[in-house]
Amino acid sequence: MDTLQFWLNDRRIEVTGVNGTTTLLRYLRDHLAATGTKEGCAEGDCGACTVALLEERPGETPTYRAVNSCLLFLPMLQGKRVYTVEGLRDRSRSPDDPEGYHPAQLAMVETRGSQCGYCTPGIVMSLFEATYRDDMGADWQVDDQLCGNLCRCTGYKPIREAGEKVAGLRPDDLFKATMEQYRARDAAVDITARDGLDGMQRYIQPTSFEALWQARAENPGAVLVAGGTDLGLRVTKFREHFPVVIGLEGLAELREIERSPMGWQIGAGVSLTRVMEVVGEELPALHKMLRWFGSRQVRSRATLGGNLVNASPIGDMPPVLAALGAEIELRGSNGTRHVDIEDFFTGYRKTCLEGDEIVAVVHIPNVPRNAFCASYKVSKRRELDISAVAAGMYVELDDAGVVRHIRLAYGGMSAVAASRARRTEAALLGHSWTRENIEAAMPMVDADFLPIADHRASARYRSTVARNLLLGFWLESHRRDRDAFDAHPVGTVRPGGVA
Ligand SMILES: Cc1cc2nc3c(=O)[nH]c(=O)nc-3n(C[C@H](O)[C@H](O)[C@H](O)COP(=O)(O)OP(=O)(O)OC[C@H]3O[C@@H](n4cnc5c(N)ncnc54)[C@H](O)[C@@H]3O)c2cc1C
Ligand code: FES
Ligand code: FES
Repeated sequence: MDTLQFWLNDRRIEVTGVNGTTTLLRYLRDHLAATGTKEGCAEGDCGACTVALLEERPGETPTYRAVNSCLLFLPMLQGKRVYTVEGLRDRSRSPDDPEGYHPAQLAMVETRGSQCGYCTPGIVMSLFEATYRDDMGADWQVDDQLCGNLCRCTGYKPIREAGEKVAGLRPDDLFKATMEQYRARDAAVDITARDGLDGMQRYIQPTSFEALWQARAENPGAVLVAGGTDLGLRVTKFREHFPVVIGLEGLAELREIERSPMGWQIGAGVSLTRVMEVVGEELPALHKMLRWFGSRQVRSRATLGGNLVNASPIGDMPPVLAALGAEIELRGSNGTRHVDIEDFFTGYRKTCLEGDEIVAVVHIPNVPRNAFCASYKVSKRRELDISAVAAGMYVELDDAGVVRHIRLAYGGMSAVAASRARRTEAALLGHSWTRENIEAAMPMVDADFLPIADHRASARYRSTVARNLLLGFWLESHRRDRDAFDAHPVGTVRPGGVA
């Protein structure tokens, strides 16, 4: 289909001819004069550009997701419904309210959550998502909902209070009715436009693997995009030009999550927010890392596939996935193959992907009852920050408390994502899981890695943290009754402290 069609505040928008990497934010402001949505950083860090997308959740009621419009390429919206702050004050939507303001807007007025007002539309859209969420039970969730929105003048207390007022309110309004009736439409699109500076630009969004292989064969230099939270920056910040972009958004199979007796199979295109919702309770180590990953808006677009293929040595998901013993399913026109997550990374920002292969599924095996897994992220800020050091750790003991399997995977300690501390592991394997043995093994971490020094941390700091995280892991594993070692350590999912 060469026409892009989406719904903006319930109005159908048709676009013929648009650069594939035009962001929704630019389109709203430059083409539709919808300037309620603000631009702050254009890189996902401030939340001023937050809008809400209506998203399907297989087997559950669809839901609104707050996302950063500065990182969303317009053609990704094919067939979708998007809401901006202009769409909230619609009298017909709130018949009981004479002014027609949405509860999220009213809450911000009541708590005096706005001063200069620049951040306010973005905050209101984050609160709009919170209003219709059906999982707002815990205290940390309001903070988490707002962690992608910066405000430089008001102070966060009144804004948080506004969040508490509306979280999970789910009023019986037209937004709720629209949400409940929502069915996703065909996401196929193939749209081309002239880029003022660089010539033609094409965006193709196939909806089947056959169409994907064909598009890749016809466009060998094309780049893939999933959530766009990495690729988007290459456009908005580094001004890169991509003549052909192929979107993975339309491949429904990549967005499936399944539970088998062996473990979890998570489609590479599932958003990280969805991963948290579905597998978080069973895999607290994964949930905990995701809690500190970017922001709510970033996670609602970012995917596991994108994080793995990015292969950044400071990417947060590789260490915890390596600790969990994940296997990656790759799919290409020549068939499917499975690789261990550690064999997936072959060097600095390098992976073993060949030809037209993509990452299709991440397989995570069950965590046995006599095993314990945890994750750690050490960064200057708790939220919206890059790790100085990240780690995923797994230990499995026999009945005598002797280490039967151990995986200590680190990020930020070498050029390769998810590097294993092999010497330290060897020093612990076959020995009792005691503090004495841990302390004896800790210096081995220095033999495993020669970390770099950069603006995030010195090499010495990284080494010290990496050693201490091992002790922290041992302490955490003993926080509960030793004999009850299982996959649900008390307090693993919690805000605060070393994440
Ligand atoms: C504000 C902000 C905060 C962030 N915070 C964090 C953080 O805390 N921790 C962290 O680790 N990262 C963070 N990131 C980086 C980014 O969000 C993640 O790497 C994310 O997982 C990328 O997923 P994506 O789907 O958006 O990738 P995209 O941008 O769509 O793609 C990234 C790369 O992967 C390729 N790709 C994507 N999916 C596939 C696939 N299935 N098969 C083959 N190739 C594929 C694309 O071609 C592209 O080269 C942050 C980014 C931003 C903007
Ligand atoms: S403009 Fe700052 S997050 Fe989009
Ligand atoms: S009210 Fe001024 S930035 Fe938030």
